[in-house]
Amino acid sequence: DAGDHESFMHKEMLEQPARAEAVLRGRLDDKFGTGHLGGLNLDARELRAIKRVKILGCGSAYYVGQMGASLIEELARIPADAEAASEFRYRNPIVEPDTLYVAVSQSGETIDTLLAVQEIQRKGGFVIGLVNVVGSAIAREVDGGIYLHAGPEVAVASTKALTNMYLAFAMLAVQLGRVRDLSIADGRRLIAGLNAIPGQIDQVLAAEPELAVVAKSLAEAESLFFIGRVRGFPVAREGAQKFKEISYRHAEAYQTSELKHGPLALISTAVPTVAIVPDDELVERNVAALHEIAARGGPLTVVTHAGVDLGDLAGKVERIDVPKNERELDPILLTIPLQVLAYHAALSLGHDIDKPRNLAKSVTVE
Ligand code: BG6
Repeated sequence: DAGDHESFMHKEMLEQPARAEAVLRGRLDDKFGTGHLGGLNLDARELRAIKRVKILGCGSAYYVGQMGASLIEELARIPADAEAASEFRYRNPIVEPDTLYVAVSQSGETIDTLLAVQEIQRKGGFVIGLVNVVGSAIAREVDGGIYLHAGPEVAVASTKALTNMYLAFAMLAVQLGRVRDLSIADGRRLIAGLNAIPGQIDQVLAAEPELAVVAKSLAEAESLFFIGRVRGFPVAREGAQKFKEISYRHAEAYQTSELKHGPLALISTAVPTVAIVPDDELVERNVAALHEIAARGGPLTVVTHAGVDLGDLAGKVERIDVPKNERELDPILLTIPLQVLAYHAALSLGHDIDKPRNLAKSVTVE
């Protein structure tokens, strides 16, 4: 049972620092600044021959797959993208021998992801799995993989498994990068960043009481936007997913850069926006977009870093600072407060947090 916690989701959120340590353990090589993933079943020469990476998953696993694709493109400079497994297998996908396919699944039993794996293998493709449940269907069928070591996850809304998916992608991206042009200095910088993440997750979770207050006010809105761009966009998508799954509020993710091409028409005092604003090369553009929203009376919650100057918006917005890591690794820490916001919104609305209406933990039939 959930022990002292009011729900499994709460227990699983708080387990994240320890489970994050578990997925990293024994897989970081400080000497060469690389990942050491034994289960890939690919040697350095085979890793170098990869020309493209295609990631497949459903729900949160798909959104974290988008974060993984951006890590792989940035660190290894290999074209990478993520797609919903449910769509991929119905469009007679092109399967190529020099593409690395990655199936992402907590349960390892999601039928759409499993059937995508089988379709790829039938066409001769090589698939690795990022799977939590040992010995599950996907874990058994793939050609190699990275176990997530998140421990059993019961709540429908994924927290610790999702975090460990991200960390597995980060290690994979560093390893792919280090057999190519990622320098040893950059490799070591990222390994140090990864080592800091469990403690930094703990710092975010310590802010739960303040986040609960923000969540209560967000829960009052019928409709919300979650916005981010580039590295921040999959974070916004996952944040909106989590919010809608358990609070049943309409939560829509948008690229901050696309606001003016549509959603700005909906901004009003009744429609809050949760904005992902990392301290990175896009910060000024992101802050400019916040002004566009504020000018239309849109309430703002800004998930950001301590160094970011919000100018005259300071004091007029809810500000949530997360600890800074290496900019490539920031997305996972920006995701954590969004879990807590969704959780406390659902709690204040009195919903069944672990078993939201109409949803199952894993969908095993078509
Ligand atoms: C969905 C769940 O049905 O399956 C999501 O509601 C989950 O929360 C998705 O992310 C994928 O599950 P799995 O086990 O393949 O990661």
